[in-house]
Amino acid sequence: MKRVITYGTFDLLHYGHINLLKRAREYGDYLIVAVSTDEFNWSEKQKKCYFSYEQRKALVEAIRYVDLVIPEENWDQKLSDAKEYHVDTFVIGDDWKGKFDFLEKEGVQVVYLPRTPEISTTKIKEELKKK
Ligand code: CTP
Repeated sequence: MKRVITYGTFDLLHYGHINLLKRAREYGDYLIVAVSTDEFNWSEKQKKCYFSYEQRKALVEAIRYVDLVIPEENWDQKLSDAKEYHVDTFVIGDDWKGKFDFLEKEGVQVVYLPRTPEISTTKIKEELKKK
């Protein structure tokens, strides 16, 4: 079985997220999604989510392409996750291009997928503010 992993916040779930998860799943037979915790978002990204970790986790778990959701709690867990979950392929949007190439040295294939244009959680929040 080929296992794929991806990481993200997935707040205000939108079609850019679904599109990313669909394409990520096509790289294997089992997709793990590490959803960032509220603490991690706040301390590392200064991001406050609309939905809590538990709500974001439940939403991502309900997507047919997703087999397992785990918490993303720090930047350094990627290597240990890869070992623990026997990950073959790491997938993420190309806004992170080049940032995770170090995983290749550990035998993990790294794939940066083109982002879906013109949609993001930030954009949704900004558009709603204008209304
Ligand atoms: N993603 C994507 N296309 C988009 C938006 C997101 O492919 N239009 C991907 C990201 O590249 C990442 C995953 O979805 O691999 C989760 O992204 P996340 O940061 O949670 O979503 P954004 O909408 O980019 O959120 P923000 O605006 O807060 O950065």
